[in-house]
Amino acid sequence: MASLETKYLGLSLKSPVIVGSSPLTQNVVSLEKCEEAGAGAVVLKSIFEEQIESEVKAEVEANDEYLNFSSAHNVYKRAATDFYIDKYIKLLVSAKKELSIPVIASVCCKSLSSWSEYAERFVENGADAIELNYYPITSDARVDGRKVDDEFFSFIEFARKHISCPLAIKMGSKYSALANKIKAIDKEGIEGVVLFNRTFRPDVDIEKMQIVSGCPTTDGNDYTDTLRWTALMSGEVKMDICSNTGIHSSETAIKMLLAGAKAFEVASLPIKEGFGSITRLNNEIKAWMERHNFNSISDFCGRLAQEESSDGYKWERTQFLKIISRD
Ligand SMILES: Cc1cc2nc3c(=O)[nH]c(=O)nc-3n(C[C@H](O)[C@H](O)[C@H](O)COP(=O)(O)O)c2cc1C
Repeated sequence: MASLETKYLGLSLKSPVIVGSSPLTQNVVSLEKCEEAGAGAVVLKSIFEEQIESEVKAEVEANDEYLNFSSAHNVYKRAATDFYIDKYIKLLVSAKKELSIPVIASVCCKSLSSWSEYAERFVENGADAIELNYYPITSDARVDGRKVDDEFFSFIEFARKHISCPLAIKMGSKYSALANKIKAIDKEGIEGVVLFNRTFRPDVDIEKMQIVSGCPTTDGNDYTDTLRWTALMSGEVKMDICSNTGIHSSETAIKMLLAGAKAFEVASLPIKEGFGSITRLNNEIKAWMERHNFNSISDFCGRLAQEESSDGYKWERTQFLKIISRD
C-alpha cells in the first residue's frame, strides 16, 4: 500500500496536502474538517500587522478626546495590538488542542521587530512552524531595485537570527533574479520556501466606476510558474520547497512532487469544491503511485527536477523554438 508520508520543515506529515492560509483555516471547526478530510498540515489564516494598525488607528481616533497626550496613545496602541495578537493565539491554542496534524501560524508584518515578536509569541503558544508571508508591493517609483533587494536580504537574515522555530518564507514570483533570492533563503538556513504566494488583485466595477476586489481564487491553469520554479530550484537547495498556486487536481499535484516539492498548499480548490477535494487528492495520488509501483513519495519526488532529469534544460526554455524552426 503506497504511503503519502512526507517531511516538511522537519515535521512528519501523513500527506503532502497542506491547506494553505485562507478563510478555511481561520476557525477550529473548519480546521477540524481539513484534518478529517486528510490534510497533512494546516496554515492558519495570516495575522496582518497592516490590518491591526488600521483598526488600532480607527479606535485611537474614536477615543481621541480621552487620549489627549501622546503617551496615552502609545499605551492604547500597545493594548489594542495585544488584543489582536491574543485573539490569534486563542485560535492557535484551540487548533493545537483539537488537531493532531501540524499547525503552522502565518505572519505578515511591516516592521522587522514585529515579524519576530509575533512569530515568537506563536511559537511559545504551540505553533509547529511559522510561515512568513513576505510580499511587499513597491509602488513608490523612487525606490529602486537595489533597495528592494537589500530589504529582501535583510529580512531573510533577520528572520533566521530572531525566529528560532522551523520557518518557511512564502514569497511571490515577481522578483528579479528569483533563483538568487530562493538560494539566499536556503543559505540562511531557513527550513522551507513556499512558491508562490498570490497577491490581492484589485479590479474595477465599470457600472459603479469603483475599485473592487478581483477574484481571490485561482483556477487550474495558474500552476505553471510554480511548476517551473519548483523544478528549477529543488535540486539547488537543501531546504524544502512547498508548491503553491493553481493546484486544482491530483495530476497537477503529482507534477509538483515530480518537480521536487516536498509538500504543496491548496486553498482555492477546497474553497471551490469543498473538503472532499482534499480526500480526492490523497486517493488519486495514492492510486497513481500504485499504478507506477511507488511505495513512498521519496521514490519519485524530484525525478523531473532540472538537476535530476536528462532533459531538465527544458525548464529554462522561454521561446517556442520548435514552432519557430518549423516556420
Ligand atoms: C480568500 C483567500 C484568502 C487568503 N488569505 C491568505 C492569507 O491570509 N495569508 C496568506 O498567506 N495567503 C492567503 N491566501 C492565499 C492562499 O493561501 C494561496 O497562497 C493562494 O490562494 C494560491 O493558492 P491556491 O491556488 O491553492 O488558491 C488567501 C487566498 C484566498 C483565496
